Amino acid sequence: MSTKSQIPFNGTPEQEKKLYEVTAKYKNMPGALMPVLQEAQDIYSYLPIEVQTIISEELNIPLAEVFGVVTFYAQFSLTPKGRNVISVCQGTACYVKGAQAILDAVEKQLGITVGETTPDGEFSIQDTRCLGCCGLAPVMLINESVYGKIAPNDIKGILASHRQN
Ligand code: FES
Repeated sequence: MSTKSQIPFNGTPEQEKKLYEVTAKYKNMPGALMPVLQEAQDIYSYLPIEVQTIISEELNIPLAEVFGVVTFYAQFSLTPKGRNVISVCQGTACYVKGAQAILDAVEKQLGITVGETTPDGEFSIQDTRCLGCCGLAPVMLINESVYGKIAPNDIKGILASHRQN
């Protein structure tokens, strides 16, 4: 796996200041790495190598060890989320109504799979269980917008309506 995201890192000075506050808070504490990584991901929404490097230096933990932990746990992400976060429900009710075909259509349209972000930063797809509106199965969520009783043929138009350009 590459250590670099395809999307350039553009953290702000405010984010960096918060990150240093977090590392200072946990410095010299045993077991600091996990909570620092969690808080760092809350700040940046992902853990690029630039952030991992700061954590490594501030906690005095080898970068390889930090990277090992980040890549081991599914809760940590190396790529930023897209401007549009897509959740295709894979719960039972949606599954029996063809959710897999919906997910396949989304992946094909965007050229990415679950857990990935398009290189232009427009879309990411996340793993999703029941969204709590099974009567609308199959259901897809894009940010706050709910799409119910959808078919694979609907996907192209729905994605186009969320694209910025
Ligand atoms: S199973 Fe998809 S909304 Fe419940």
